[in-house]
Amino acid sequence: MNEPKIFDIAKIKTPNVQTNNLDGWLRHEIVNHLEGNENIGIELGVAKGVYSKRMIESQKFKRFYGVDVYGDAHDTVEYRNTIKFIGVEEEKYALLRMDFTNALELFPDNYFDFIYVDGYAHTGEEGGKTFIEWYRKLKVGGIMAGDDYHDDWPLVKWAVNDFALQSEETLNITTGEEQSEYCKYPTWFIKKTKHVLGLKTNKELYTLAMQEKERIRQLRAPKPQAPVQNPVPVQQPKAPVKSHFFPKTVIPQGLKIQYEEPVFMDGCFVFCHTKIGAYTYFGDTHIGSLKSIGRFCSIAPGVKIGLGEHTKNYLSTHPLFFKSAGMFNFTGEMDKFKETGVPRTLEIIKEEPIIGNDVWIGANAIIARGVTIGDGAIIGANSLVLQDVPPYAIVGGSPAKIIKYRFEPEIIAKLLELQWWNYSPEIFKNKPVDNIESIINYLETELKNAQPIKYQQWEFLNDNLRKI
Ligand SMILES: CC(C)(COP(=O)(O)OP(=O)(O)OC[C@H]1O[C@@H](n2cnc3c(N)ncnc32)[C@H](O)[C@@H]1OP(=O)(O)O)[C@@H](O)C(=O)NCCC(=O)NCCS
Repeated sequence: MNEPKIFDIAKIKTPNVQTNNLDGWLRHEIVNHLEGNENIGIELGVAKGVYSKRMIESQKFKRFYGVDVYGDAHDTVEYRNTIKFIGVEEEKYALLRMDFTNALELFPDNYFDFIYVDGYAHTGEEGGKTFIEWYRKLKVGGIMAGDDYHDDWPLVKWAVNDFALQSEETLNITTGEEQSEYCKYPTWFIKKTKHVLGLKTNKELYTLAMQEKERIRQLRAPKPQAPVQNPVPVQQPKAPVKSHFFPKTVIPQGLKIQYEEPVFMDGCFVFCHTKIGAYTYFGDTHIGSLKSIGRFCSIAPGVKIGLGEHTKNYLSTHPLFFKSAGMFNFTGEMDKFKETGVPRTLEIIKEEPIIGNDVWIGANAIIARGVTIGDGAIIGANSLVLQDVPPYAIVGGSPAKIIKYRFEPEIIAKLLELQWWNYSPEIFKNKPVDNIESIINYLETELKNAQPIKYQQWEFLNDNLRKI
């Protein structure tokens, strides 16, 4: 999914285009607009090959190509399985493992009768660059089409509308919905009636698309796995700051820790990028993944946060089978096997946990991946937290259940509104912090005039500490 700001920008920038909606049409039926059965077609972005196979079966083509780089989430195993699915012996089909730009020069201009783009919806097919680059490969009378013409993919809609306007052709949209996860979005297509020169990629759209591409690439990049070979003990930063990374804390090279001054980490293992709020302290904590933790959190010894999940329905649960056994040096046959293993699905990886402000986690608690812990919550010692914890709840047990709340609902509502952790702790000096009603009364007046505090922010990366 795109970032929320992309939806906002696309809403304003997407040009309006009159569409011709084809009621009940399914995406593979657009080839009915092609004459005869001697056509040449290509699909850009093949993945498992469902659409390519349907195109071959439509009997409309004498030759059909697929192009897919099979990088990131789609890998060699998917490439092999796609060839198997379409048929190793299928004479009409060739699956080219490369990116779309590299495939371009394999074909002359005015070569294809049908081009179907189903590549990177979150980049709007590279900000429409793919449509424009491939349009010249399409014969007059041919069909240019693509998937994901839907509000869920705002950059695709923007790029397609832009392309339809530039090509001066009618934009057709299929509205039928198949019961398949691959075909749930409408397909768009235009029929090329003439050559139009000078089609250009929209610069603003392309820039946004490339930013999204990079963001998604980073999201999909394999996360560092524990244990990491030769972990580097972190030395006390040389810079004169009050925050402490004690020598016993281990943060492998390449991981970025952003924190507000001061924080305190003693004897921790951190195996992810993370963000830590001011006055939060950890004792002897193992952090596999943690998107962020707020201010004034107390993390007891032995806590484990966001550890990795293994696969349950593969042949084995061992990381060798999901390409993550970095702790073993394979040789020979084993090495080969490591390459062909299957990556963990996103479902298994789940989101990194998020921990709010003023959270107290008791000794030896385990916080599972995908969990959000609300502001003010308490996690009892030895708990196994598998579900989100509401603000100011006290949970305990394995699996953790709500035992009670720290305060009455109206007090919790006021605290969540006040967000006292956004102000300097100086304002609490000699104030009745031990009486919740009194301190709320005080804060309700005091915070009206107070400015939220800006803590000095630091970034720790590869033994380097810099202000941010
Ligand atoms: C969760 C905790 C804060 C609750 O304290 P409390 O409000 O005094 O709660 P009580 O002792 O009155 O217990 C209330 C109920 O919760 C249960 N409970 C308490 N702690 C629990 C835990 N860690 N796991 C499961 N259940 C727990 C009690 O058995 C009791 O159940 P009952 O009502 O059925 O008898 C406390 O038990 C705890 O775990 N503290 C963490 C200590 C720690 O690790 N400190 C490290 C220093 S940073």
